[in-house]
Amino acid sequence: MTDPTAQPSGAPPRLWVPNADTPTSYQREDAAAHPPLDSPGYKSTQLRHPKQPLVYLPQTATEITGPQLGPERIAGELDHDLTRQHEGQPIGERIVIGGRVLDTEGKPLRDTLVEIWQANAAGRYRHRWDRWDAPLDPNFSGAGRCVTDAEGRFRFVTVKPGPYPWGNHHNAWRPAHVHFSLLGRAFAQRLVTQMYFPGDPWFPYDPIFNSVRDERARERMIARFSIDETVPGWAAAYEFDVHLRGPGALPFEEAH
Ligand SMILES: [Fe+2]
Repeated sequence: MTDPTAQPSGAPPRLWVPNADTPTSYQREDAAAHPPLDSPGYKSTQLRHPKQPLVYLPQTATEITGPQLGPERIAGELDHDLTRQHEGQPIGERIVIGGRVLDTEGKPLRDTLVEIWQANAAGRYRHRWDRWDAPLDPNFSGAGRCVTDAEGRFRFVTVKPGPYPWGNHHNAWRPAHVHFSLLGRAFAQRLVTQMYFPGDPWFPYDPIFNSVRDERARERMIARFSIDETVPGWAAAYEFDVHLRGPGALPFEEAH
């Protein structure tokens, strides 16, 4: 069998090899499918939202073909386990977050790089700009990643993040949440969203959660507690399926 990456001698190595399921173009979505770029309740969007209509660039070979970010981005076998990245275990309620990445027809999407980042159990991020009066945890960095398997499944082990205050308005607090980023078959396919937990009392007061205008779409950002996936004597489980398009699509933070 000939090597598909082989190039004539002296030519630079080919960085991208087309697969049978590499898309030839991307479907653009209705602008109403995602939160508005200017959400009056979410103050900082007033200053940073575009003031001119967006200009869509033509999709060329650059957008369609690469670079692909997949399994090679996983640095170690504990990348998906945020409770085992340090010497000791982090403080907090240990949880498992599992789910599947699915396309419009419900077909599982394999080799999707799924990255998460979150606050610790006290609601504090390990970030130089996060200075609110809550403890950092020396055993918790708050970031993880994995790649979906042949059934489109991903799985993380972490601790449940705490809610935290922010300066948007008087007595503003974010509901507990985990940030998600997904990278598809090409770099232009990055999608970012947040996962929430069922029954959070902060939902009605959070302008970011409510910037998704459709109630059923908001509900899709809330993970489902799963007694079946809960590991007895060890960790409660939450399921969070990510439907990229179609009636069950998850709202994302950036319109594409
Ligand atoms: Fe956050």
